[in-house]
Amino acid sequence: MAPVILRNLKSVVNKALAPMGVTITRADTHDWNDVANFIPFEPTMAAARAAGLTVGDYIDSILNEAPGSSQSTIDKMAATGVFAGRMDNVVEIGPGTGRYLEKTLKACKPGRYEIYETAGPWSDYLVKEYSVALQPTDGYSLAATADASVDLVQAHKVFSTVPFMVTCCYWHEMARVIRPGGWAAFDVVTESCLGGDVLRAWARSDIRNGSFPAVMPRKVAVDFFTSKGFALAGNFVVPMKPGSTELFVFKR
Ligand SMILES: C[S@@+](CC[C@H](N)C(=O)[O-])C[C@H]1O[C@@H](n2cnc3c(N)ncnc32)[C@H](O)[C@@H]1O
Repeated sequence: MAPVILRNLKSVVNKALAPMGVTITRADTHDWNDVANFIPFEPTMAAARAAGLTVGDYIDSILNEAPGSSQSTIDKMAATGVFAGRMDNVVEIGPGTGRYLEKTLKACKPGRYEIYETAGPWSDYLVKEYSVALQPTDGYSLAATADASVDLVQAHKVFSTVPFMVTCCYWHEMARVIRPGGWAAFDVVTESCLGGDVLRAWARSDIRNGSFPAVMPRKVAVDFFTSKGFALAGNFVVPMKPGSTELFVFKR
């Protein structure tokens, strides 16, 4: 069935089901509302294999249409000095396929790499593939990580995706666990990403309800981390289909 007919059919059925609080979604496509479960594991791995790509390259090149974008983000972080000093303990929130994790492990050799990830199949895969430590993930805290114990906490395409309260709670936790001299790297969709024709591009996308894309005034991000003793080391607008998101790198 043509995608447009399927979409219309789905929309009619969902309107009929709405009073019951029920919606239908295709099992083989991504449900943009379901940010905690991420894209389906098996079909994504199979599609990457079929394309002859690593899963990270598949996400960059095919799904996101931005070849090399995850390496480019790691290079930007490196240019601000993130990987120049001591890097014993790294924490990543929402690593997903591990496309940034894999490149971070090439940029530095931390003794310990902790992940907090809500999508079970992806976190299982990362633990097996990269021997990282999966921490119990309640979806808003870094409870298993000690105060002032971490050199870098990073979260890519997470705070630009999840509801405000998740971001708000994780930011406080980042401020708790990052040591003096440590780093925070993450992106949010700020006003720097919403000029020109970008609103038209978002409106024309298939995305409707849900927290993605999650918008945050850049002043709120900068003021929060500054108030916790961080200084802005770099900020970069990076692609996030069909628009962009702003990567912030803070040093404490
Ligand atoms: C848009 S994906 C980005 C994945 C990966 N960082 C990347 O850029 O390819 C968001 C990731 O955050 C995870 N996630 C969503 N909500 C979360 C939460 N509350 N705590 C931890 N991880 C979460 C999802 O399962 C997914 O892996």
